[in-house]
Amino acid sequence: MSEDTTPKWRKDFPIEWGADNYVTRREFTKFLVLASGATLVGNGYFVLRRQEHGEHPYPSREIAREDELRPGQVKLFRYPTPDDAAMLVRLADGALVAYTQKCTHLSCPVNFIAQRGRLECPCHNGAFDVRTGAVLEGPPPRPLPRIELRIADGKIFAERVIGT
Ligand code: FES
Repeated sequence: MSEDTTPKWRKDFPIEWGADNYVTRREFTKFLVLASGATLVGNGYFVLRRQEHGEHPYPSREIAREDELRPGQVKLFRYPTPDDAAMLVRLADGALVAYTQKCTHLSCPVNFIAQRGRLECPCHNGAFDVRTGAVLEGPPPRPLPRIELRIADGKIFAERVIGT
């Protein structure tokens, strides 16, 4: 009668050295799939909860009276949170525009320069088109996020941020 001479460690780990990487990749792929699925389920849960409670990421907030600004004037306000600086600008033709004040390069505060009719960042001479928020000059990699406005009953409301 022959006795099984296979060592115990070989019975516990019956994988040849050459197949070891293959098993590791397969386990890693399984881990990635499970982790992605868990992330998807988690995000879905939070989205559903937010909708259930009627929460919106951007509140509607009154920021000025409609007659408050003359052409070329600016009003600073905070939106969407008390930590987010933003600006409302009355253009020469009377149109109103609003933007976040944080430069898309390295977050310096952007200012409206009425003489040049554009938004400028003093840190690295970045400049944005005041009508569209598009980059005109300098290192900013993206347009300035615009704040959608709504006018009702003589008041101006910030509704949401576009392009963050
Ligand atoms: Fe505005 Fe650099 S932070 S151009």
